[in-house]
Amino acid sequence: MRLTYGALMQAILSRKSVRRYRSEAIDASSRQALLEVDGLRRLNIAQCRAEYIESPESLDHVFTGIIGSYGKIRGARAALCLITPSHEKNLGQMEAGYLGEQYVLRAAALGLGTCWVGGTFDYKKLMGHCSIGPEEKVIAIIALGWPAEDKDNLRHMLHSMVRHKEMPAIASKNLLGGPPWLTTAIHAAGRAPSAINLQPWFFSGTPERVELKASRNGAFTSIDLGIAMLHFEAVILAYGHSGKWEFDKGIPNISVQPTEVPQEQRTNFVDM
Ligand SMILES: Cc1cc2nc3c(=O)[nH]c(=O)nc-3n(C[C@H](O)[C@H](O)[C@H](O)COP(=O)(O)O)c2cc1C
Repeated sequence: MRLTYGALMQAILSRKSVRRYRSEAIDASSRQALLEVDGLRRLNIAQCRAEYIESPESLDHVFTGIIGSYGKIRGARAALCLITPSHEKNLGQMEAGYLGEQYVLRAAALGLGTCWVGGTFDYKKLMGHCSIGPEEKVIAIIALGWPAEDKDNLRHMLHSMVRHKEMPAIASKNLLGGPPWLTTAIHAAGRAPSAINLQPWFFSGTPERVELKASRNGAFTSIDLGIAMLHFEAVILAYGHSGKWEFDKGIPNISVQPTEVPQEQRTNFVDM
């Protein structure tokens, strides 16, 4: 799928986790655009595949919720399972976050709602819907569907409490004083979804070589980092620059080659 700079930023800024869905199925053309294999990017640090599942009934029985009904996904009839070999640990999580978030942003651009689900699902019930090999495991799933109009005031209030960190909390001063493409990319990474909204990322280094480190260590931190990396890189590419994440002693870093082409002459888009 090709996203222009505007469509990408719109998807990043308007996306929020959706936990209630309408009962309509995802139509064939939206499904095709969502699942297109061409253009999907990889970190290539671990094997990871995505399996799309769809059910004639809702998948409510798969999603268990956290406390009472909060965090419970209702009405979704489709989901994506992110699957890695069983032996994969952090690198598999990072690859899954990076890959899965491309579907999330594609979905947002198509008007579909999504919610990453790391722990609150019933593994056995999920197995009734997807085909996992004996040497594989599901790292996380992404609920998918048309967002329901949410009339629940409590839920609205809870959602308004979801705050993304301010820029100084997620990046060093020298980066925040950098060129606009850099501050925009950091801002986009800061809007990424993360498990219990911990936003465990910190950008440092120099504008020429940006590093991303975990600011805490949770069960899903590497997935969260993979997601933030995807947001950051997608903005760089949609700006017309080039850059790809590399790894130095396990720490992701990206060197960006700014394009020489003047802004107004660039075709700003990213394939993903
Ligand atoms: C790896 C990961 C796991 C998540 N697991 C759950 C979950 O189990 N249940 C849930 O309701 N939300 C889950 N979320 C969604 C987060 O709670 C949500 O992204 C965060 O609160 C920020 O809100 P936003 O996505 O609306 O910006 C998860 C998100 C990520 C990235």
